[in-house]
Amino acid sequence: MPAKPVSANLLTVADRLLAWYDVHRRALPWRARAGEAADPYRVWLSEVMLQQTTVASVRPRFLDWVARWPDLASLAAADGAEVMAAWAGLGYYARARNLLKTAQAVVAEHGSRFPADEAALRTLPGLGAYTAAAVAAIAFGQRAVVVDANVERVVARLRAIATPLPAARPAIRAAADAITPTARAGDFAQAMMDLGATVCTPRRPRCLLCPLREDCAGYATGRRETFPVKAAKRAKPQRYGTVFALLNHCRPRGGDEILLVRRPARGLLGGMRALPTGPWTDAPPGLAGAPAVADWTILPATVAHGFTHFDLQLALAVARGQGHGDVPGDWWPVADLAAAGLPTVFAKAARLLEPEP
Ligand code: ADE
Repeated sequence: MPAKPVSANLLTVADRLLAWYDVHRRALPWRARAGEAADPYRVWLSEVMLQQTTVASVRPRFLDWVARWPDLASLAAADGAEVMAAWAGLGYYARARNLLKTAQAVVAEHGSRFPADEAALRTLPGLGAYTAAAVAAIAFGQRAVVVDANVERVVARLRAIATPLPAARPAIRAAADAITPTARAGDFAQAMMDLGATVCTPRRPRCLLCPLREDCAGYATGRRETFPVKAAKRAKPQRYGTVFALLNHCRPRGGDEILLVRRPARGLLGGMRALPTGPWTDAPPGLAGAPAVADWTILPATVAHGFTHFDLQLALAVARGQGHGDVPGDWWPVADLAAAGLPTVFAKAARLLEPEP
């Protein structure tokens, strides 16, 4: 008797996705070729590089890096300053410091071989939940639920998850878990990433090319681009402050000087050179916190600056001093203020001193 044909709808999401991946997978320098074993060092390195940088930018940087440090042992023996310099432009330097620490830990404590399971990988410096899952799956074929931003989008659309992010994350993770296969777990993770990057894109997804279209609840709603739903942005609190421009005419140099201070090492813009400022509060603080007793005038114009957690409106108070006195800080030529390296918020305020063009 001829074998019964397998109906297409007996195929799982993973079956369909893996069949698509076998044809459409991207050739990336850290990826093993089909049928070849992955190199855990290259997988780990690429995942760390890809956390803050796009695939297109990582490609050449990854190749330069592995030409210089081709394996874990060479990286573990590398000079820390050279590793930091090689990381320039790839995101937080803490990641580079942790790369070196992890390479050294794997050599010293794990016989130069990456541990092959997710829980042990998590104990290494800087290896968070995502990276541990990705390395366990891609390098070692372990079943792990790998959810990056691409996967989050694919899953949120596939299951039309209507809860806004970030509250939707547990549901997205559970839905990703439910479709993750035991076999070919690494290929499945990479297939989800490739689908998210090339087909299920944030804008104008190419649903007609998608192997999961028939499974996709988001497609069925006709509003596929609305998933994942983003929480409405909360308005940031508004704060107010005054910065102080204490000017002093410098006879030898013939121009005005301005008082600059160093901000305390801890806190916002810590250790940066700045104009003196009073408190940043819920209402304009006027002349509170002025660096010297002087005949201050608050200019009518203000500047606005957005920080991550609040918006700041700054007034500028100006006064002329009588000599340097004993005011703590540095006197800087006003004409040369651009060279002082002031953080943007203070540079904006200092521009109020410039005469109108
Ligand atoms: N983004 C993060 N990790 C990736 C990988 N292994 N392949 C493709 N894109 C990725």
